[in-house]
Amino acid sequence: MDPRIVDRLRCPVCAEPLAEATAGTARALRCPRRHSFDLARQGYVDLLAGRAPHSGDTAEMVAARADFLAAGHYDVVSAALADAATDALHAAEAAGRPPGPATAAGEAAYPLVVDAGAGTGRHLAAVLAALPHAMGLALDVSKPALRRAAKAHPRAAAALADTWRRLPLADASVAVLLDVFAPRNGAEFRRVLRPDGALLVVTPAADHLAELVGALGLLRVDPDKADRVAGSLADHFAEVSATVLRARLELTGPEVSTLVGMGPSAWHTDPAALAARIAALPEPVPVTLAVRLGVHRPR
Ligand SMILES: C[S@@+](CC[C@H](N)C(=O)[O-])C[C@H]1O[C@@H](n2cnc3c(N)ncnc32)[C@H](O)[C@@H]1O
Ligand SMILES: [Zn+2]
Repeated sequence: MDPRIVDRLRCPVCAEPLAEATAGTARALRCPRRHSFDLARQGYVDLLAGRAPHSGDTAEMVAARADFLAAGHYDVVSAALADAATDALHAAEAAGRPPGPATAAGEAAYPLVVDAGAGTGRHLAAVLAALPHAMGLALDVSKPALRRAAKAHPRAAAALADTWRRLPLADASVAVLLDVFAPRNGAEFRRVLRPDGALLVVTPAADHLAELVGALGLLRVDPDKADRVAGSLADHFAEVSATVLRARLELTGPEVSTLVGMGPSAWHTDPAALAARIAALPEPVPVTLAVRLGVHRPR
């Protein structure tokens, strides 16, 4: 794993720094107290230190997400994240370096972008493509997701980590934190972000996928979602701007199945009933993409 990324990682057991060690053909990250974390052949490191509360998205869900994203349907979201991340880094550079440990030479030279609940890493890859000096780290509890995220971009690495636990990152080690349709942990996000860093949060707007919600009986977006997100982060972050991104997608029946398989309804809907309803839709199926991108600054 790239030493510029290992440098920012911390042992999930004792919070000491980690370094790469090799024993035979096996590679691992190890701390001075000899806690050891395997580097999987597929390129990610397991920094869970214990059992996952659940295993995140299944291989089928991740494959569905990868196919759908590869068709470019959510590129508007990737592009908006890349723009917001670029703005955030430029603003931080213009304001000068923050005080404290984050001023270490490594962080100055290689700002770190972390994607919490990164899935396939496609959004992270788009952000890294826009930031030629940045390094990237995808965190997720899903191994199938991490296998893809580890290969998403040459400057990205991937680690198995649970957003609800202590993140395996040094204090103030992250310049930009992405959270796209994934769980949020305000206290930990605040701890790992630089004081001049930015947290970019993407959540569904009230009319996201509205046509499918009605026709297929999917889970509805909570109309107070934006307030709930801001509220859950409010102790640690202030939202400084918000944009609603909209696009009209024209989807085939199989793409609709994929899109449904990516979202929370995949866990809650009877597959046979859903397939029958999707088959009854006239193609192409017009679908509204409506998501909110909030830019949050540490308090
Ligand atoms: C709806 S997907 C979004 C994936 C990606 N951000 C995207 O937009 O393509 C949610 C992701 O969060 C991950 N996830 C769920 N609970 C998590 C947790 N407690 N810690 C880390 N990741 C988690 C899932 O495995 C899944 O990859
Ligand atoms: Zn340790």
